[in-house]
Amino acid sequence: MSMNLNGFFKKMAAGSLFFGLLPVAHADEGMWVPLFLSQNQERMQALGMQLTAEDIYSVNQSSLKDAVVIFGGGCTGELVSGQGLVLTNHHCGYDAIQSHSSVEHDYLTLGFWAGDFAQELPCPGLEVRFLKEMRDVSQQVLQGLQGPDGKPLPEAVRQDSIRARSLRLTAGLGQGEEGRVVPFYYGNQYFLFIYEVFPDVRLVGAPPSNIGKFGGDTDNWVFPRHTGDFSVFRIYADSLNRPAAYSPENRPYKPKRYLKIDLGGYEEGDFTFVFGYPGRTQEYLSSYGVEQILEQEDPMRISARTERLAVIKAAMDKDSKTRIQYSAKAAGIANGWKKWMGEVKGIQRLDVVGSKREYEKVFGQWASSPQGKAYAGVLPALEKAYQGYGAYQGMAILFQEHTLAPEAVSFAYSFRKLCQASKTQDSALGRILEDCRARAEAFYKDYDPGVDKEIFLRMAFMTEKDGTRTPVIEFPGSTLQKQADRFYGKSIFTQPERMLSFLEHYKPGQYKTIERDPLYKYAVLVYGQYLNQTAPAVARFKKEIDSLQRIYMKGQMELKALSEAASRDSLSRPDQGLSNTGTGILYPDANFTLRVAYGQVAGFSPSDALYCKPYTTLDGIMEKENPDIYDYVVEERLKDLHARRDYGRYANALGEMPVAFIGTNHTTGGNSGSPVLNAEGNLIGINFDRNWEGTMSDIRYDAEMCRNIMLDIRYCLFIIDKFAGATRLVEEMEIVGD
Ligand code: ARG
Ligand code: GLU
Repeated sequence: MSMNLNGFFKKMAAGSLFFGLLPVAHADEGMWVPLFLSQNQERMQALGMQLTAEDIYSVNQSSLKDAVVIFGGGCTGELVSGQGLVLTNHHCGYDAIQSHSSVEHDYLTLGFWAGDFAQELPCPGLEVRFLKEMRDVSQQVLQGLQGPDGKPLPEAVRQDSIRARSLRLTAGLGQGEEGRVVPFYYGNQYFLFIYEVFPDVRLVGAPPSNIGKFGGDTDNWVFPRHTGDFSVFRIYADSLNRPAAYSPENRPYKPKRYLKIDLGGYEEGDFTFVFGYPGRTQEYLSSYGVEQILEQEDPMRISARTERLAVIKAAMDKDSKTRIQYSAKAAGIANGWKKWMGEVKGIQRLDVVGSKREYEKVFGQWASSPQGKAYAGVLPALEKAYQGYGAYQGMAILFQEHTLAPEAVSFAYSFRKLCQASKTQDSALGRILEDCRARAEAFYKDYDPGVDKEIFLRMAFMTEKDGTRTPVIEFPGSTLQKQADRFYGKSIFTQPERMLSFLEHYKPGQYKTIERDPLYKYAVLVYGQYLNQTAPAVARFKKEIDSLQRIYMKGQMELKALSEAASRDSLSRPDQGLSNTGTGILYPDANFTLRVAYGQVAGFSPSDALYCKPYTTLDGIMEKENPDIYDYVVEERLKDLHARRDYGRYANALGEMPVAFIGTNHTTGGNSGSPVLNAEGNLIGINFDRNWEGTMSDIRYDAEMCRNIMLDIRYCLFIIDKFAGATRLVEEMEIVGD
């Protein structure tokens, strides 16, 4: 370390006003890349882990990672038997369960249990992915991405080369394999992931909603929690155990690895880890980025959804058909809504913007010194970019949350292709028509024009009322009420019977009926505005922010490395122990790649004088029980088992039936369904949520307040075995610890 640098560090430390105001460093924040887990091994073992990093992820041998899958588009699942049995959350299996449900076979309400293999239900479109391999390809992707003058290439050119190189890296894979090249640290590193994709996944079992979704949206994001949030699927493969499209000939898949289930439970303080696919975090944003989320993005989305949900809930309460049609939609809308509310509170409570500003002062000072000069203009440039971005982002959110809230709009717009193909007599017309028919069927199954009309009106009036916002819902020539009457009285898109029969007898010349349709015209108008004006501006600013964020990230990493070196040499650290995340550990932000988050089973204190124990029990379900409140109905059979304390081998040492528990594992959306493992690497739970007070952990993790919520595996097995009598499934599993 040169003297020169040393002097700089000392000056920085002397100027510090805020040393000591920072959150206490907590080593267990983070979502770690399994390939590099050896760097965490010591800490994990100190917390009690009996495994090595190699047991969890090994390049050469079978390891725990072979038992973890991407479930569907955005969840995690785990293998729990030698016959391809997969556990995930109820809310991850929800679409599959719902698509098999009708008023006659209401699997959502009543649950479903296949009595044997033959009764397991195929789920077209549902896939699971096993990670075969991950590899650092930063060299291949990034090498020489500079112009002849040594300056970085223009962003668009850079992106094009990266895309081309990524395509090359993922070419030539085997059957059933899929390659993805994924940026880490905002594009400072790239990794190649190779997955094996299994398209034949069948529904094996699901508890009734009043178990799988107990507490509903009332309890969502909340602890104490009593949701039995699991469902059971099975992967099928061809006769050679390879991935294959659905066929009655397929057989249960024999996995390389499955998890043992430990009924031995846990104590507060015990080591746990969560192994799965966290979707997205933004721990390294600038204060300007966080401000935008706090001041604009979250509040706008929250207020739009408050209105939309009010309409849907009222309709669901009135009618059981509507309840089935809209339950999955409502859950999806409410989920983000509630999470953002918690996020806003958490960001405010921790003064994330303020503490980022403090970090940025230090960063700025360093960047204006000779050592940091590569980063000199980056923060001011980010500030400016966010200023420009704000208005367009606002318009984009209006389009997404208001204009597209009535579902008929995007549905109508999707008929563009049919019109085009009809006009040009395209040879693909037949296929496109088929596709429209299938989509119409699926759309109308869960659609109520009356509800949609009400949403249209509420959203429209809301934007009209609020003069500060760009009116995106504007259709020449009539009042909103008249427009609504036309869209929902005259348009063919909001008349299911008429549309289905129209499509059945469709002749190419009839595209005119579509083009003259008022709702179709409206959809074309608002999409046109969005696609031609808003979206390109959003993309331009996003691109700029992304490339600045990449540089800023690199700066943060460099400053961090300098600081570590300085503290090893016991010089004052250039960042004074400050970091942009709150802990100073630079794990990469989540990007829906496999990660390990570890921590301990731990209670927490949500507010003054209150302390939450780390687990709930069936007694708590009985306390919440209320036959008049949909979210808190308890089945007779469950009450009965409770009354008799008939918990079999699944009770804890105190004779209680544990339901959910919490810990300090740093998780996010996508971790749903992730296995929760104990010190020996056995399954003790299924991750399904976080506490509301901790949802800002996507932006700033706080060890005091952030908890992940996990289903106790003993409750899961109790429901399968004692409640549903699906004992054949438990018999497939390898159970230890009882
Ligand atoms: N909050 C959890 C997650 O983010 C669970 C969502 C599903 N449950 C519900 N009640 N909507 O996905
Ligand atoms: N429920 C979330 C999911 O579906 C997990 C909760 C979280 O965001 O941590 O992935």
